[in-house]
Amino acid sequence: TRQTGLTALDYGFVNTASTRSAITYIDGEQGILRYRGFPIEELAENSTYLEVAWLLMYGELPTPDQLAEFDDKIRRHTLLHEDLKRFFSALPHTAHPMSVLSSAVAALSTYYEDSSDPHDPDHVELTTIRLLAKMPVIAAYAHKKSIGQAFLYPDNSLGFVENFLRLNFGNMAEPYSLDPTLVQALDRLLILHEDHEQNASTSTVRLVGSTGANLYSSISAGIQALSGPLHGGANEAVLQMLARIRDSGEGVGKFVERVKRKEDGVKLMGFGHRVYKNYDPRAKIVKESADAVLEGLGINDPLLDIAKELEQFALEDDYFQQRRLYPNVDFYTGVIYKAMGFPTRMFTVLFAIGRLPGWIAHWREMNLDPQTKIGRPQQLYTGSLERHYPAR
Ligand code: SDX
Repeated sequence: TRQTGLTALDYGFVNTASTRSAITYIDGEQGILRYRGFPIEELAENSTYLEVAWLLMYGELPTPDQLAEFDDKIRRHTLLHEDLKRFFSALPHTAHPMSVLSSAVAALSTYYEDSSDPHDPDHVELTTIRLLAKMPVIAAYAHKKSIGQAFLYPDNSLGFVENFLRLNFGNMAEPYSLDPTLVQALDRLLILHEDHEQNASTSTVRLVGSTGANLYSSISAGIQALSGPLHGGANEAVLQMLARIRDSGEGVGKFVERVKRKEDGVKLMGFGHRVYKNYDPRAKIVKESADAVLEGLGINDPLLDIAKELEQFALEDDYFQQRRLYPNVDFYTGVIYKAMGFPTRMFTVLFAIGRLPGWIAHWREMNLDPQTKIGRPQQLYTGSLERHYPAR
């Protein structure tokens, strides 16, 4: 570096700790999260999922005309190819919706990856619109498939979140009435998930994209990475953990003691973070939303009380404080998704829809940069030194 000024990154050694990006800033010590410089708290309070998606991808907030055109383009690309709808019938109804989502998104490339150059800017714009428009429809179809209900066609007179809720909870037998409380709460939750720097799934999207793979394939890989219980799958695991505490009758205190003893590898799901060694700013906002949404829906869910009791226990316990373990974005989201009517196995799918704009923004940032080289994470070799095959 002294002689050439080049760094390991310039030689294509993508050490994830040194990936350059201008999209999201996190200060884990202070619990700060900003998308393109805007604090997450302000965006969650004042913006919408699509407006933030534009901000992440283009670096500035859209003008009203730009947002209107963006919204209109997405509405007009919600239809799936009729043959692709038959794809779902080949899958068992017991299939996990994250596997369905990743498979169907990969299948999108068989219908729409018609460009000789997947990185042609016009093609990237169209692919961006197609993914933002079609992935929520695929997600809703995965939900409908799992409960044996007919798929609805998108209604392009509805906004993004309204359409998504109707595709999930509407049915052929009766009109679906939208609850503004749900629409606003889900829009806010999606904003909170839109990006988070170089997390495992975003790094996966960047690594796959750095090989020249198309955007559909890169997103499909990111969905699979997100599905793990240590990552996006945690929101599903939190609900299972809360339900187990409720049903076992062991009580929060005994459960926390089992976690501290690391009994059978049990963890306090929804707690801890590679970067945040303070309260995840998103978790604060989700917790406030949980109270508001459940009250708005007139739901009194004991799981929320158990979650709050768990949090209180952990925040006052040296074991968690010494390890700087705080609630992360996944700790309270599941209670809200459950109150909205989503089955537990759809929770991580909701995380994926939230994260989609961030994945796309990172893929575009990387692939539109001529300096980008194929990703090649560095390895520290810990194996045998050279040795020779024994003479026979
Ligand atoms: C997300 O990267 C991102 O930005 C991710 C994300 C995003 O928006 O993309 O924020 C989304 O993935 C949030 C995280 C969701 N996952 C969970 O909630 C699963 C539970 N949490 C953990 O498994 C864990 O905290 C991780 C994986 C999230 C982070 O692990 P770290 O930072 O590598 O911590 P570690 O495994 O090195 O643990 C350090 C110590 C260990 O104890 P000791 O060995 O020192 O005795 O803390 C303990 C761990 O056992 N520990 C926990 C714990 N998390 C860490 N103990 C109990 N419960 C936990 N949840």
